[in-house]
Amino acid sequence: MIFNNKIHLVLFVFLLFTSCEHKEKKELRDSIQIIPQPKSIHIDSGAFTIDKQTVIYTNERNSFAADLLKSLIEEKSTFKCKIKIKEDFSPVEKGNIWLFNEGKDEQDESYELLIKESSLLLYANSNKGIMHGIQTLRQLFVDAFYSDVERQSWYLPCLQIIDEPRFKHRGMLLDCCRHFFDKEVVKKYIDLLAFYKMNVLHWHLTEDQGWRIEIDKYPKLTEVAAWRTEKNGERYGGFYTKKEIKEIVEYARQRNITIIPEIELPGHSQAAIAAYPHLSCTGKQVEVANDWGVFKEIYCAGNDSVFTFLEDILTEVMELFPSEYIHIGGDEAPKYRWENCDKCQERIRKEGLKDTHELQSYFIERIEKFLNKNGRKLIGWDEILEGGLTQNATVQSWRGMQGGIDAANAGHDAIMSPTSHCYFDYDLKSTDLEEVYGFDPIPGGLSQEKKHHIIGGECNMWTEHVPTEGRLDTMVFPRLLAMSEVLWSYPEERNFDSFYHRVQAHYPILDQMNVKYGLELMPAVIEVEIRDEQAWIIPKTGHSSIYLRFKWENYPAFKPFDANLKLVRSGAFFVQAYKDAKPYGNPIRQIFEYHKAIGKKVNYASAFSDYYKAGGDFALVDGKTASTDFRDGNWQGFSGSDLACIIDLGELTKISSINANFYQYSNAWIFLPKQVTYEYSLDGKNYFVLGRIASDIKPEDRGKIIENYTLDFDSKEAKYVRVTAENIKRVPDWHEAAGSEAWLFVDEIVVE
Ligand code: ACM
Ligand code: ZN
Repeated sequence: MIFNNKIHLVLFVFLLFTSCEHKEKKELRDSIQIIPQPKSIHIDSGAFTIDKQTVIYTNERNSFAADLLKSLIEEKSTFKCKIKIKEDFSPVEKGNIWLFNEGKDEQDESYELLIKESSLLLYANSNKGIMHGIQTLRQLFVDAFYSDVERQSWYLPCLQIIDEPRFKHRGMLLDCCRHFFDKEVVKKYIDLLAFYKMNVLHWHLTEDQGWRIEIDKYPKLTEVAAWRTEKNGERYGGFYTKKEIKEIVEYARQRNITIIPEIELPGHSQAAIAAYPHLSCTGKQVEVANDWGVFKEIYCAGNDSVFTFLEDILTEVMELFPSEYIHIGGDEAPKYRWENCDKCQERIRKEGLKDTHELQSYFIERIEKFLNKNGRKLIGWDEILEGGLTQNATVQSWRGMQGGIDAANAGHDAIMSPTSHCYFDYDLKSTDLEEVYGFDPIPGGLSQEKKHHIIGGECNMWTEHVPTEGRLDTMVFPRLLAMSEVLWSYPEERNFDSFYHRVQAHYPILDQMNVKYGLELMPAVIEVEIRDEQAWIIPKTGHSSIYLRFKWENYPAFKPFDANLKLVRSGAFFVQAYKDAKPYGNPIRQIFEYHKAIGKKVNYASAFSDYYKAGGDFALVDGKTASTDFRDGNWQGFSGSDLACIIDLGELTKISSINANFYQYSNAWIFLPKQVTYEYSLDGKNYFVLGRIASDIKPEDRGKIIENYTLDFDSKEAKYVRVTAENIKRVPDWHEAAGSEAWLFVDEIVVE
């Protein structure tokens, strides 16, 4: 318990003499929709009234919190609210608000909120606790968010809340590099994080595509590295001046948000190298990247002037950011340049390192020592585990939970943000509201005595495909509400149905806060089931409050589903979801191909990847075609191996054309096949080549490309069709991920 006995005694006596008129206000109870769910909440009858008589008493420590509460009350009131500073807690005057910060422990985030008809009391041991209590109060002022009418009085429901967070690190990463968001957007997000009791803004400030922080010693970082030339020739960029950063850091501090800056090294550094080419292994001039992906130009680990540069940068960064932690990235640093650099190889020899992974550890350790010497701690992405973890590092686990488990087992702290639940750049198909809500930052299998090393989690908002504030809001909300509750509340206090109900009450609040929130879940997923060698279209929705209607292209109106929708035609098929009798999201479109191999058995000579199954053994004959989104669930992927499969048509069938779609997106290491061969057979033993096809598109061609490999031929009777597509196997030498296994992606094999 956080409060001492003396205060409890005073409180008890005080409450004994307060009257409760028992005016039951059901709507007031209904207005209690707090996110994240408090640890304990007891709701009483009656209400506390705030009006022109009300005084906010506070001790000096909470003056910011008191001002915030005052402005919240006054924003939509006809009256002004007084603040009186009082250092001793002596609740003698009724009808007033008391904010009391005992100041015993600045790290203690707990608070107690007691609302009686006679008074409103908020206690904590720290500013942090008081501010959390204020955020809870703000959420109780829901009327203010619903109405534009100025009021003469406010009613808050009588209740007692005792609350504290489960994790001490509750963050969101905001990538301001891939796209730049100005100061006001960053402040808006600080407000929103505070409103949902998050406490860390992990500010991603340097990238291949742009450097966003002013550094006095290296002016070219903002003259050159902050700007890129887009493919259409337009200049894009921006940066935060030191003055702006100080303003933002102070704004965050007042709201109990710690900003942890991320300065990426040794990879994701092409923009800096474009400004100062001597920092790379080759010393050659490169451009600030204008494409997405992972780039092989990284800081040279054999060049001492690189470390001087980085230490200078970090010195200025530490002057701006008072955070205990500095994030140094450490992720996705291809070792291609280091393998081929005399200086890096010399460093490996001199330092007695085994390979370039150990060279990365050397790099990180040098930076860590510098940070530690300056009283700061290092956080790095889980790649910093490769080649050996440095002494004091905290690991941010993103490639699943294993990085966090390994770090904790080695006695290091970890922050969990696995792609499975925490990547808000992923669409709702992979990460919907319920998926986020299902996240538990404590990995299963971690022993009891290691669990304390998991200090919390973050959601990561990478912005490659998020060019505007509106899009940012749509990706972050409402999923942030789920993350907030996951990081604040204990699993036994959480329940998705209750949470979902509360989320509905937050939409008007978010509207008032100018948040263009997105959907909670994919309105519909169009699945296909194969039964009796037929494809049956089965649209599914993730929530009982949603219903679906469908239509084929060129039909005027959506109509209700009938349970047995058999695929008997090709074309574009649309599903519209509805919630509360209103369309929910845009119609979902699926192109179907109806053909002779639908539902036939497919035998694979080499296995498709577990990551890209596209529905498994019938994926290539289910009629459902894939889009330019390689994660759309319709592409079947083969990593480093060919596609080689035989379709058993079951009986002799007249055929005169075969086609299949393949995909290329070299940023994701997916390439078109070198060649596709179509064959047929009557007996399944002897195969005859119908034709071989190659594409004019080269592996070097960038962008997301769907290429159709069609073969028309004189009609044949066939019982079997064999399709072989030759994977290029390895990512080519010119590519930033040279030597990695190449992906081959295929979709529907259409047999006519
Ligand atoms: C990351 O997503 N590359 C940390
Ligand atoms: Zn080098």
